[in-house]
Amino acid sequence: MTIPKGFIRADDVLQDRMTADEAVRLEVTHGNGKLMRGLDILGMSGPLRPITPWELEDPHGRHVINASGYAALPFGDNPPELVGFLRDMLAVGGQIAIAQQSVTTWRAALEANLVRLLSHQAPSHADSRVFFSNSGTEAVEAAIKFAVAARPKAKYLINFQRAYHGKTFMSLSLTPNPTLQGPFRNLLSSSVVTLPFGDIEALARTVKRLGPDKIVAVVLEPILGEAGVRLPPPDFLRAVHDLCRPKGVLLVVDEIQTGLGRSGHWFQSLAAGLEPDIITLAKPLGGGLVPVGATIVRNSIYRELLGDVNKLKRHSNTFGGNSIAMAVGLKSLEMLIDMDAPARSRALGERGLTRLKAVQQRFPNLLEDVRGAGTLFAMNFRPVIDPKFLPGQADFVSEVSGFLALLAFYRAGVQLNFSLNAARTMRITPAMNMPDDVFDELFDRVGRAAEQHPTSFSLVRGTGLGKLLQLAKFAFFE
Ligand SMILES: Cc1ncc(COP(=O)(O)O)c(C=O)c1O
Repeated sequence: MTIPKGFIRADDVLQDRMTADEAVRLEVTHGNGKLMRGLDILGMSGPLRPITPWELEDPHGRHVINASGYAALPFGDNPPELVGFLRDMLAVGGQIAIAQQSVTTWRAALEANLVRLLSHQAPSHADSRVFFSNSGTEAVEAAIKFAVAARPKAKYLINFQRAYHGKTFMSLSLTPNPTLQGPFRNLLSSSVVTLPFGDIEALARTVKRLGPDKIVAVVLEPILGEAGVRLPPPDFLRAVHDLCRPKGVLLVVDEIQTGLGRSGHWFQSLAAGLEPDIITLAKPLGGGLVPVGATIVRNSIYRELLGDVNKLKRHSNTFGGNSIAMAVGLKSLEMLIDMDAPARSRALGERGLTRLKAVQQRFPNLLEDVRGAGTLFAMNFRPVIDPKFLPGQADFVSEVSGFLALLAFYRAGVQLNFSLNAARTMRITPAMNMPDDVFDELFDRVGRAAEQHPTSFSLVRGTGLGKLLQLAKFAFFE
């Protein structure tokens, strides 16, 4: 067959022969065009190149500190130690890449290390098992299958308002966001009972009403990440443990965003007194280079899904546990341990949150509040227009406020994260190994951005009329 016209050779991309404009055009045409077009109008579509692991350069020559990465960049972009290790690993070769029917040393080592790390703090996990997948949402899907298989007579899953567990069907069922659930509602699980986060009385009442034997599991994030770094009341997680454990209701804890140091602990749940039966991990485990999802499961539960000859094919995937992912995961975990990621995250967290609180106090008309836990930070912006002037449009105003804040901070040299369950909240999730001077410069820039936009309305003015018109046309007519 002749190569189709316009086919792009990998070497052309490798040798940088594709222009930024061409990449944007292709993405707008063939990818998530609406998002890419919106970012392009804002001048933020990239492609972004790392100039150090912590700083990015865009095609206009603008340098921004990368405070984004959705907590999946523990060491920034292309961390040299990890990239070097991956190169060595590929050069040595040695084992098959995708091994479903054989052991690999990479996978064996990572399984064992994850269990050791967990059981170091929760000894009852000493014989736990690990199931690998390729994303956070898959890790959650697996967690629920394990839990359900272990409690076949139970029907209900309890989750919490504003939780985020991913966008595949079961994870989406556990993510009670009407916009994200939208047209899929009819196909989502009807077994999910959603309660206010942090309300132990509501949980106690619900457990009593449904009956503990009818409840498969309580599924929770120890800190609501995508809702904008929202911590529960101090004793909530311990109380959930004390309520559910004696009754046999399983505890499925999603540490995909909080875990492995990010919140200031290896496992935020354990630090807060809740010992999970099943834990999901993903983001930082891939070191910012490859996707790795992991579901750590008590042995007794694991066996119910995959534990005998008739069952052992009941859950699997093609790529989970592949050698590149496992090698990078193994090295990433080692790097996190060597740098004592939780301690580093706590130290940076304290410093950053002090800075953020000072900015909020100076500019209360820009920032409604700020929050932090380790190196998970959130800035909650005020709406750019009081929603009472646009009845029924509060969500739209929130979206616009979020986008304009993102733009203003980008122009001030900081790349922020959206929050999927809080449109006006932007998160700062810097690499945990960010050097002190870059970290301080990041918060200097946050302060300068706020000085330039002392009120939320000034985000509108600062955007410029031309850009606003372009955005309005894009939002309503394109
Ligand atoms: C707590 C939590 N769970 C699950 C997910 C889904 O992970 P992924 O995007 O890798 O599917 C995320 C992603 O942000 C998350 O923060």
